Amino acid sequence: MNDKTVLELRGVSKSYPLGRLRVGALNDVNLSVQRGEFVALVGPSGSGKTTLLNLIGCLDLPDEGTIYLAGEEMQDASKRQRALIRGRHIGFIFQTFNLIPVLTAKENVEYPLILGGHYHRAKGSELKELRERPAKLLTELGLEEYINRKPDDMSGGQRQRVAIARSLVSKPDIVLADEPTANLDTKTSIEIMTLLLEFNRKHNSIFLLATHDPLVLDFARRVVTLVDGSVAKDEVTAETEVANVN
Ligand SMILES: Nc1ncnc2c1ncn2[C@@H]1O[C@H](COP(=O)(O)OP(=O)(O)O)[C@@H](O)[C@H]1O
Ligand SMILES: [Mg+2]
Repeated sequence: MNDKTVLELRGVSKSYPLGRLRVGALNDVNLSVQRGEFVALVGPSGSGKTTLLNLIGCLDLPDEGTIYLAGEEMQDASKRQRALIRGRHIGFIFQTFNLIPVLTAKENVEYPLILGGHYHRAKGSELKELRERPAKLLTELGLEEYINRKPDDMSGGQRQRVAIARSLVSKPDIVLADEPTANLDTKTSIEIMTLLLEFNRKHNSIFLLATHDPLVLDFARRVVTLVDGSVAKDEVTAETEVANVN
């Protein structure tokens, strides 16, 4: 692990109970991802993509192996610590958007800042910038007129943009996306992938996107293929440019 490595998985295995048996979902996965990488995670249905994202996103723990995330080891962390680590380092984009229907777009985007304690830790001008960030991000994503609307009044593409704003608002080290374009048309998918790549270039955040969509592969610079819960192929498809930001 060198100083650019933000994410490292060593010997990670995970199975789920099925009656009295267990179904293997991941088997001895090793993966190391450096600052600024834009990675597509591909593989047939059931190959373990979602399981892998959930483990990296601290939503679940592996049965075996270790996950290091921004210098912290997940295995020894309590549930509460993992929630904090998730809030500080991870942004999650789900296929089904998972917005909170009673909250407006802005409130949905603000949610991780509250949950991750970002507001709580900031003071003065930093706090001011943080409070303005959700509306600013939504505006950048072309949703200026929808800031105070609720998800039910928005199209699929607009909801996905809100979900993206929510995943980026805390400027996470790692953005995880599970089939982010699965419910979108081609035009919206291209717009959204362009936005993600721009953010990746600007902030050097790692993007790890589980996908079946060939369009997503055009944007990725590294493609990791899972087959039956193991890494079958790991290819660099384009060079990663690391921007000079802090
Ligand atoms: N919550 C769960 N309970 C039981 N089995 C599961 C669960 N989630 C996933 N699995 C099983 O684990 C394997 C990997 O699934 P998943 O990670 O969802 O793959 P993918 O996202 O690539 O389709 C599959 O065999 C699936 O049936
Ligand atoms: Mg899946």
